[in-house]
Amino acid sequence: MRRPLVAGNWKMHGSRESVAQLVQGLLSEQVGEGNVDCAVFPVAIHLSSVLAQVAGSKLSVGAQVCAAQSGQGAFTGEVAAEQLQDLGCKAVLVGHSERRQLFAETDALVAGKFAAALRAGLTPVLCVGESLAEREAQQTEAIVLQQLRAVIELCGAEALRQAVVAYEPVWAIGTGLTATPEQAQAVHKVIRDEIAVHGSEIAAQVRIVYGGSVKAANAAELFAMPDIDGGLVGGASLDAKEFAAICRAA
Ligand code: G3H
Repeated sequence: MRRPLVAGNWKMHGSRESVAQLVQGLLSEQVGEGNVDCAVFPVAIHLSSVLAQVAGSKLSVGAQVCAAQSGQGAFTGEVAAEQLQDLGCKAVLVGHSERRQLFAETDALVAGKFAAALRAGLTPVLCVGESLAEREAQQTEAIVLQQLRAVIELCGAEALRQAVVAYEPVWAIGTGLTATPEQAQAVHKVIRDEIAVHGSEIAAQVRIVYGGSVKAANAAELFAMPDIDGGLVGGASLDAKEFAAICRAA
């Protein structure tokens, strides 16, 4: 039985004050208590304060991005996975569609970041998903598998045991358009079946979460699908009560 995971990606939102209030709200709502893993992904400069604030709670903290380069070096502006781990982070998003689309992260670079996260002992949350044009051209499966295979080729399928996969159709991100539970389930099954080619036990273990306009009103029906193990939540994770309700639905 896979333990559900609900993760809040705060993207480039928040001030020191508003983030502190949000965390306080999550702690008041006891987010992370119960049979669901809950994590938040603030911007890098807020990681230290959020980590300090959640200390002793069940809420875990991850970063939105890391460098593909390990250790230390002359990489201005980058943050190494080891530095995130040293700070107390448990996970890092890799290959979010905004990184792929707006910051030209290729499948190869994403795979490199996935490998860097693993080397540092972080849980990589590998985001995959198709654009609207790709869905309309019936390329959903091909795109998602291409993104997944780039990681498997570099790191091996065994590496997925330490990872989470997030299926996020780009057309559903921040648009209010959610994939139907059946649409999402179909792609989650494609992902799990592909992993099963390398090992049925690995496939049975890997958590595959859904992202794209998840909110309290639609979370339960999405999470009820057999291959959907939770959610990666953007906008709705900026409201403590809404995020807590999504966590309770998992
Ligand atoms: O990482 C989160 C996803 O991009 C989903 O964002 O819930 O605002 O659609 P959203």
